[in-house]
Amino acid sequence: MTTKNFWQRLIHPGEDAEPDGCFWQVDLHSHLLPGLDDGVSTPEETLTCLTQLAQWGIKKVITTPHISRDWYPNETLAIQQGLAAVRQLIAEQQLPITIDVAAEYMLDDFFLDMLKQGDMLSFGERRFLLFETGWSSAPMNLGDMVFRIQTHGYTPVLAHPERYKYYHSDKASLEHLREIGCLFQLNWMSLTGRYGSHVEKQARFLLQQHWVDFIGSDMHRPGDLEMMARLFKSGDMKLLEEQTLLNETLL
Ligand SMILES: [Fe+2]
Repeated sequence: MTTKNFWQRLIHPGEDAEPDGCFWQVDLHSHLLPGLDDGVSTPEETLTCLTQLAQWGIKKVITTPHISRDWYPNETLAIQQGLAAVRQLIAEQQLPITIDVAAEYMLDDFFLDMLKQGDMLSFGERRFLLFETGWSSAPMNLGDMVFRIQTHGYTPVLAHPERYKYYHSDKASLEHLREIGCLFQLNWMSLTGRYGSHVEKQARFLLQQHWVDFIGSDMHRPGDLEMMARLFKSGDMKLLEEQTLLNETLL
């Protein structure tokens, strides 16, 4: 307990003086560049999200627009332009937060072409590459894709593994992914019921296995903030503290 918290508790006995917020300082999964995907649609929404994240103790956001051939064929130039605009907003508003970009890649043919060209948006010294897979059925060749990502010099990070229904009763596939060097990024709101009870249960399973390498908000809009705030008073904070999170290596 810090000295400040000690005095707060003394002045307000019975009240929980711990402020709501994150013990990690980097968020690495979100959709906060307006108009590029299904995330925020206006600069005002971006500012609302960033302001709250800063108040919760986040110092750096690596935002990750979707990239997929069918839905969001975003190119690096457009993403960099979106980043520049948001950086200007942050400067104008003097928000105590910095922002960078990467992407959330769908594993499709578009992804493979980009991987071959070397035009990938990754983050951190280990060139972490955030990717997601389809929702309907388990990918046939995920192990092969993980290998290809690695041989191109990136560290694969599977976004929200707890959300894929086909892995809810197939823990062995998740374990295999970890064995071949694929890291896992857990969604913050998976623990607060945002995606239903099965996802929540799977999220807690991943924590209990100590299989969580990154915690990420995956926030899309200001409407997510209320669901996110529920995490701070939950018992899952303790489980999260027990993980070897890599978020802080990105500061
Ligand atoms: Fe996402």
